[in-house]
Amino acid sequence: ENLTKGKVSWESPSNIALVKYWGKYGEQLPKNPSVSFTLNNCKTTTTLEYHPIPPTEDFSFEVFLAGEKAPSFEPKIKKFLERIEVYLPFLKDYHFSIKTSNSFPHSSGIASSASGMSALACCLMSLEQQFNPEISSAYFKKKASFLARLGSGSAARSIEGGLVVWGEHPKIEDSSNLYGTSYPFEINEVFKTYQDTILLVDKGEKTVSSTVGHNLMHDHPYAEARFQQAFQNLKKLQPVFESGDLNTFINIVESEALTLHAMMMSSNPYFILMKPNTLEIINKIWNYRQDTNSKLCFTLDAGANVHLLYPEVEKTEVLDFIKNQLVAHCQNAQYICDNVGTGAKQL
Ligand code: PMV
Repeated sequence: ENLTKGKVSWESPSNIALVKYWGKYGEQLPKNPSVSFTLNNCKTTTTLEYHPIPPTEDFSFEVFLAGEKAPSFEPKIKKFLERIEVYLPFLKDYHFSIKTSNSFPHSSGIASSASGMSALACCLMSLEQQFNPEISSAYFKKKASFLARLGSGSAARSIEGGLVVWGEHPKIEDSSNLYGTSYPFEINEVFKTYQDTILLVDKGEKTVSSTVGHNLMHDHPYAEARFQQAFQNLKKLQPVFESGDLNTFINIVESEALTLHAMMMSSNPYFILMKPNTLEIINKIWNYRQDTNSKLCFTLDAGANVHLLYPEVEKTEVLDFIKNQLVAHCQNAQYICDNVGTGAKQL
């Protein structure tokens, strides 16, 4: 073989789930299908520099975050490389410098695992492509998503843009537990430019990691009912995505967010990731909807931050509402404006 040195760069976005993934089995496979909006502004940029080395026992790599050596990330990356080695058998033939930076503030409480793992997966696929130049772009994206999933489940949904489904659903063709795919049915124009303004409520380290949270679904008394509900909600969203029926959209999306946190509160051990300001914000959103004909709604990830979802036409009003009423509940008055994006890109 004639291995050469080189480098490749990708940027990959975060995503926000509408139907949540919470509970897994086997090799990071989801117990229920999920669907998300791919984001646009919250993203990770990763440059992978590689040069061939004599075969080694262990992986040879170093990680830099925003220009600084970041050894604290090494165990997570090492575990990722171990998991994906059977799918990319050349990994031990190289030394890697992984140089990564996030567009969002470090330790903002915004998970960088989806954008970070998907960006790295794309870089590694570009290297694989040098051995197999004939692979199609469809295969490239599927395998990138497959690999990203092994880094962080939700990262499987960050390769494609728009609405992305991850997890097998009987009514969704080509859906798979192994990788994310573009939502295959008709999508109303309103969702193509949907806004997500992320209110930073708490920047602290999460008290319970999502790995622990997923595992607590194993002996959870409501697990089966929850997984069934996610299947149902995804099915119910199909006519909603097509028609743009925002009242039903709001009902499903907010219920998904609160159910996710209800699963945490009813696990054993139980835990709460919402903060008082999370609830203040939720109440103000509900009041705002009652006082106006706004279609603003919220969703939550595994943390205290609140994602505000709304149609682009409402942008001015919602940003005024945020400044006047919600910013007071954010840490250091911080929020990030984002919207639906197009997925991972090679630079
Ligand atoms: O990708 P993970 O293992 O960090 O799981 C994240 C799960 C949620 O963000 C809470 C929901 C989701 O579907 O993104």
